[in-house]
Amino acid sequence: MNTRTPLIAGNWKLYKTSPQAVKTAQQLVELVADTVEVDIMIAPVFTALDPVSKVVENSRVALGAQNLYWEKEGAYTGEISADMLVSAGCQYVIIGHSERRQYFGETDETVNKKIRAAIDAELIPVFCVGETEVERESGQTFSVLDKQVKKGLEGYFAKDLGTLVIAYEPVWAIGTGKTATKEQAQEAHEYIRSLIDRNFDKTLAQSVRILYGGSVKPANVSELMAMPDIDGALVGGASLEAESFSNIVKFK
Ligand code: PGA
Repeated sequence: MNTRTPLIAGNWKLYKTSPQAVKTAQQLVELVADTVEVDIMIAPVFTALDPVSKVVENSRVALGAQNLYWEKEGAYTGEISADMLVSAGCQYVIIGHSERRQYFGETDETVNKKIRAAIDAELIPVFCVGETEVERESGQTFSVLDKQVKKGLEGYFAKDLGTLVIAYEPVWAIGTGKTATKEQAQEAHEYIRSLIDRNFDKTLAQSVRILYGGSVKPANVSELMAMPDIDGALVGGASLEAESFSNIVKFK
């Protein structure tokens, strides 16, 4: 048995206006009020962070952002800093999501700088990695994970990464309804944990939480969570409704 507290995180992507986000957050807070031994996070769009933070205050639900920029302030039109997210009530930030890598030019190098900014501001980074379908089919899954983890965390020491969360999200499983099998997910998670051991140390490898993401639903969460190296889920589509997300939170 490990001592890692599961984390179920909802990535709301580019959905929900502020009133809609507030409403879903209110419903969720009620539905998960009696849960224990699981951490819960939701990541709405930037403009909804402040109003949603007031809803989730003193509840079981923590707030996260979907991205940040690594500079503290300056002439960087359209960006947002780690301190600004903290002041809007965030405890977590998702970094390097495959949609950001695919559509917004995110690279292992920018991901690396963003993780630093998050840690410096005491935000918990949810660092996303995962292979595409072509990479999996050509047998490159492990080498892709190796590169993403190594470059994303280059220059860090184990002591910097005490709060780090990693999300394994095979790109081919995101929003497609094609969940990785529990064996495929476990194999990748075990490999990522071995990378942390190899690049840092055993203590960090044992404590780091590794979430699975990619078409997680109430119907498949339990079998995924039963795997030894799966410590939680990063949920997109099925996190948008409070009812279905709360059923994922109560996976046992
Ligand atoms: P999905 O998204 O659950 O809709 O597949 C997961 C994610 O992108 O984090």
